[in-house]
Order: sequence, then C-alpha cells, then structure tokens
Amino acid sequence: MTNTTNTTAATTTVNATDTTAATDTSAETGSTAAGTSGGAPILVLAGTGKTGRRVAERLTALGLPVRIGARSAETPFDWTDRGTWPAALDGVRAVYLAYAPDLAVPGAPEAVTAFCEAAVAAGVRRIVLLSGRGEKEAEECEDVVRASGADWTVVRAAWFAQNFTESDFVGYIRAGHLALPVGEVPEPFVDADDIADVAVAALTEDGHAGEVYEVTGPRALTFAEAMGEISELTGRPVGYSALAPDDFAAALAADGVPAEVGDLLTYLFTTLFDGRNARPADGVRRALGREPRDFRDFVREAAATGVWNT
Ligand SMILES: NC(=O)c1ccc[n+]([C@@H]2O[C@H](COP(=O)([O-])OP(=O)(O)OC[C@H]3O[C@@H](n4cnc5c(N)ncnc54)[C@H](OP(=O)(O)O)[C@@H]3O)[C@@H](O)[C@H]2O)c1
Repeated sequence: MTNTTNTTAATTTVNATDTTAATDTSAETGSTAAGTSGGAPILVLAGTGKTGRRVAERLTALGLPVRIGARSAETPFDWTDRGTWPAALDGVRAVYLAYAPDLAVPGAPEAVTAFCEAAVAAGVRRIVLLSGRGEKEAEECEDVVRASGADWTVVRAAWFAQNFTESDFVGYIRAGHLALPVGEVPEPFVDADDIADVAVAALTEDGHAGEVYEVTGPRALTFAEAMGEISELTGRPVGYSALAPDDFAAALAADGVPAEVGDLLTYLFTTLFDGRNARPADGVRRALGREPRDFRDFVREAAATGVWNT
C-alpha cells in the first residue's frame, strides 16, 4: 500500500510502517523458557508487526527464546506457503498467533485451521490468538483455536492506537487531514503495548488458558476527537471528515491501493464502525490487574517522537 499524503482517504495496516525500533529477526534469542517447556522457542507470528514486535521484545527481555514468524524472518514463515511452516514450528511449544493480513480475509479460517493442526502435531501446547473485536470472521478463527487441542487464550482487540503511528495513517496525519467512511461512532482505541502485555502474560503465566480478553482503551473517541487530541498535543491541526463508502473506495483506488486491499478496508470500516465496538471492555484489567493506557498518553508520547512532523 502506498504511504502518500493524499488528504481524501486513509488506510490502515496491511503494510505497516514501523516508526520505532525494529525487531531483530536475525536469530533466536534468550536462554530460558519459563511458561514453556525446556528452552523451546516461542513462535511469534507477525513478529515484526505492531503487536508481534512488542510481544517478541517483551519475551526476549524476560530471557525467553523467541522465533520470529514473518516472511522477512531468518526462518521465513509465510501464511500463503505451507512449506515454510514446519521449520518455523520446529521445537516450538507456544505460539503467538497473529494472522496476516487480517482475519476477515477469505481463506483465513482455513489457513488458521491448517496451521493449528500443524502446530499441535509439531508439539505446540499453547496458542495465544490475536483476534478482532466484533468481527464474525475472527470469531470463526477463535473457534478453530478453541478446538485445536492446545491450551488457548484469545486476545480480542479493539482498533490499535498504533494504526495512527505505524501504518499508512501516518501520511494522512502529517498532511493534516484524515478521511474515512466512519461518522460519529466512538472507538476505544487500544495501545499495542497493552495488547503485548496481555499476550505475554498469556504465553508465559498460568491462569490465562480458556480466557477471552477483550482488550480496549479506557475511553472511546470518535475519529474526529482522536484527530482533535493529536492536533492539541502536536500543535498542528489535523482535520477529519467522514466519507461515503463509495468515495472512500474510489479515493483508495486513485491512491494506487490494490483492489483487494481497498475492498478489505472498506468492508472493515463499514461493518465494524456501527457502534458494536463502542463500549470499552475490561480485558486488560482482567488479564493484568491494571487499567489500560489512555489514548491521550499514547498521543503525548507519539507526538514527542516527531512521528507526525512533516
Ligand atoms: N490493526 C488493527 O487495528 C487490528 C485490530 C484488531 C485485530 N487486528 C489483527 O491483527 C493482525 C495483524 O494486524 P496488522 O494489520 O496490525 O499488521 P501488523 O502486525 O502490523 O503487520 C503485519 C505482520 O505480518 C507479517 N506478514 C504479512 N504478510 C504475511 C504473510 N503472508 N505471512 C506471514 N507473515 C506475514 C509482516 O511481516 P512480513 O512482511 O515480514 O511477512 C508483519 O510482521 C491481523 O490478524 C488483524 O486481524 C488488527
């Protein structure tokens, strides 16, 4: 996906643009394996992405051996090439399962089913699934993981705050205007650091098996309000306008976004932002015993990095 400064439409995450330190994909790290058995690596899928990179960093900081699962990893893992799966799963006991590009794309349940079968056959005992709130397709994948035979935990996430810093949203915010096919519907944007904390707890601690953690921020904001907070804390105005779905799709196409990506984004925005996900949930508190991070704190820290400066 392009990362242009078009001011009529914005896209999310399929080709994330990392703006912070990249995860080292060159080697497995760590020497102990609390929470998994016998020094076995934990496979972190999407391990260079918004949540996976943070999960991998936390596990490594705990001294646990990590194997990054991504096409660009030293042991490449590709959802579209099952021939890459055995090497990625070799010796693994626990998996952070973040599907790419999105659990809502056709074929995701079939791929997740085949992956879980391969994982359990390879000896995986614990699977932590990153899911999406309010997505019926994601819930189908949750059912697959529940039935896998491994201990499972579902981390069912709201829209990531980091979509505003580590995806193509960045270009639009820098250009001063974001436009999406979403009106006055509030969303409790969740910080990817909170998602990673919950996932790591589920991967490494007892007591999280069989739990579905709905992870959100503590406060729901509309996109217009979110841009208002970014404007306030950066001192640079960022406007917001709601587009008709057809206009959004046309703007993406004009921006060079591939049709399948544009279709996915239009589908996600026009189905998920109908109010179904507006209420904050208690998954971070239930998993970690603390409150989730507020969007304003995320914006303050991101603004200080200069990520939204032109
Ligand atoms: N973004 C949100 O707000 C949100 C909210 C709820 C749930 N989710 C879920 O989060 C997951 C990922 O979200 P994201 O969009 O934020 O992406 P992301 O994790 O930031 O980035 C994509 C990651 O997946 C890897 N990847 C891409 N294509 C791959 C492939 N064919 N095979 C293996 N790995 C591949 C990428 O590395 P390589 O390019 O090196 O392969 C990268 O590590 C999706 O399952 C989505 O449903 C997202």
